[in-house]
Amino acid sequence: MKIAFSAPAEPNSGVLVVGVLADRKLTDSAKALDKRMKGALVRAVKGGRFKGARDQSLALPAPAGTKLDLVLVVGLGKAAELDAGRLQALGGGIYAALAGRGPGAAAVAVDGLAGCKLTPAGMAAEIAFGARLRSYRFDKYRTKVPKDEKPSLKTLTFHCDGPGKARNAFAAMNKVADGVFFTRDLVSEPANILYPETLAQEAKSLSKLGIKVEVLDERRMRRLGMGALLGVGQGSTRPPRLVVMQWQGAPKKKAAKGKGAKRADGPIAFVGKGVTFDTGGISLKPSGGMEDMKWDMGGSGVVIGLMKALAGRKAKVNAVGIVGLVENMPSGNAQRPGDIVTSMSGQTIEVLNTDAEGRLVLADALWYCKDRFKPRFMVDLATLTGAIIISLGKEYAGLFSNDDDLSGNLLAAGEAVGEKLWRMPLADGYDKMLKCDAADMKNISGGRDAGATTAAQFLQRFVDKTPWAHLDIAGVTWSKADKPTVPKGGTGFGVRLLDRLVADHYEEK
Ligand code: BES
Ligand code: MN
Ligand code: ZN
Repeated sequence: MKIAFSAPAEPNSGVLVVGVLADRKLTDSAKALDKRMKGALVRAVKGGRFKGARDQSLALPAPAGTKLDLVLVVGLGKAAELDAGRLQALGGGIYAALAGRGPGAAAVAVDGLAGCKLTPAGMAAEIAFGARLRSYRFDKYRTKVPKDEKPSLKTLTFHCDGPGKARNAFAAMNKVADGVFFTRDLVSEPANILYPETLAQEAKSLSKLGIKVEVLDERRMRRLGMGALLGVGQGSTRPPRLVVMQWQGAPKKKAAKGKGAKRADGPIAFVGKGVTFDTGGISLKPSGGMEDMKWDMGGSGVVIGLMKALAGRKAKVNAVGIVGLVENMPSGNAQRPGDIVTSMSGQTIEVLNTDAEGRLVLADALWYCKDRFKPRFMVDLATLTGAIIISLGKEYAGLFSNDDDLSGNLLAAGEAVGEKLWRMPLADGYDKMLKCDAADMKNISGGRDAGATTAAQFLQRFVDKTPWAHLDIAGVTWSKADKPTVPKGGTGFGVRLLDRLVADHYEEK
C-alpha cells in the first residue's frame, strides 16, 4: 500500500475519512464536510448509537451535496486520551474498514485537536503507521484468490498541516514496519520451505542494508564445541546453522580495545531461538496442532526483523543479532532421552526430554554471544514453553531477567508500543530443580511446576554475569484473531518493542 501526506484539502471525489470526537463533537474537517452535505452528516451522527467513541465508525455512501463516493466517519474518543497507540489502532481500523470495500484510494483528514499532545503531522504519521501494520497479508501460496477477496485499497493520502514533517516521521516508522513484515513473513513460511539453510539465506539478504552477516555451518559449530545445539539438530536431514548479524550504526569513537575494553563499549545483543520445526524429537509431540510448530523459529524471526528495522532506519547503535537454527526431528540419528551433551560453555546436560530443545539451542547461542562480543546486555527471544501460555495467555509475553534496569526499560518499551511484558521471578530454589545425578544439569525439572521459570533458569546458566533478559514469546507469536494493527497470523511481536528499547535508551543522539 502506498501512503502519502499532503496539505489540508477538501477532496470532492473518491473516499474521505473524517473524525468525530467523543460525545459526537465534530472535528473541523467533519464540520466543513457537514456544511457541504447541508447538515446530513450531523443528522447521520445523531441518528444512532454512534457517539464518536474509539472503535466506532459510520459509513455514508454517496452523500448528496458532494461528489464523494463514500464518507467514513471514525470515532476518535477523547482528544486528551489520543496517544500514539490509539492513533495507530485508529489507522488499523480505517484500513480494515476500507481495504475490502472496493475503492483503490482514500483520503484521511487529520485535524489539530485541542487537548491532544500530538501535532497534526505527528498524528497523521501514527495513523499511517497503524494502517500499514494492519495491511499485512501472507497469501503467496494462494494461487486462486478471487479478485473480490483481495484488498482493493492501494493508496491512503493523509491531509494535515506540516505534511513534510509527517512524511519524515513516517519514514522511520515505515522502516520498522518493514522489519515487522519480514518477521511475519518468516514466521508464516512452512517448514518445508523455511529450514535452517534457507532461513540463514533470508538473514543473509540483510547484507544489502549494510549488515555484516556470517553463517556458521555444522563443522564450525562442532569446532566451537556447541554440543547442545548440535544434539537437537542431529535427527534432521536439514543441517543446522548459526547466523551472526552485526549492525555498526554508532558514530565511530576511538575504540578502547584490549585491556581498556569494558562491557559498556560492547554492542547490544539479541539472540533468537530458531527451531524451524519442532516435532519434539524422540519425545514426540501429539499430532494435534503440531503444525503450529512451524513458528517455533519465532524468536529468530524477531531478531532478524529487528536487525532489518535498525539498519533500515539507520539506528545509531552497534547491535548484534544471533540466531541458532535447527530442525527438531525424530529419526535413526536423533538424540535420545538420556543422552548427555557437552555445551560450548563446558557444562554438561542430560537431555531427559528431547522436546525441551529450545533451551539447548539457546545455551550455546547465548554463550557464544557473550564470549565473542562481551555485549552491554543480551536479550533472547524464544517460543520456549507451553507453560508461559498457561501463566499469561496471549496478552503478555513473559520477561525473565537478572537485571532490574534492563527489565524496567523493556517493560516501559512494551507498554509504549502495546507489546506488553510481565516480569516473572528467577530464584535459587527454581535453579535447584535442574540438579542432576548424571551431568551438571538436566534439561527439564521433571514436574509441571513453574515450567516457564525452570526453562529461564536453565538459560541463566549460560549468560554468566552479562545483564540479560529472556522473553518467552510462545503465547504472542501467532494470533488466531485480527487485532487493530495485527492481522491474524504471525504477529511480529517483539520487533517494535525492541526497536523502541533501542531508540529510547541505547542510541547515541
Ligand atoms: N516450542 C515448544 C514450546 C511451545 C509450545 C511454543 C506451544 C509454542 C506453543 C517447546 O520446545 C516445548 O516443546 N516445550 C515443552 C517443554 C517441556 C518438555 C518441559 C513444553 O512447553 O511442553
Ligand atoms: Mn519442544
Ligand atoms: Zn520448541
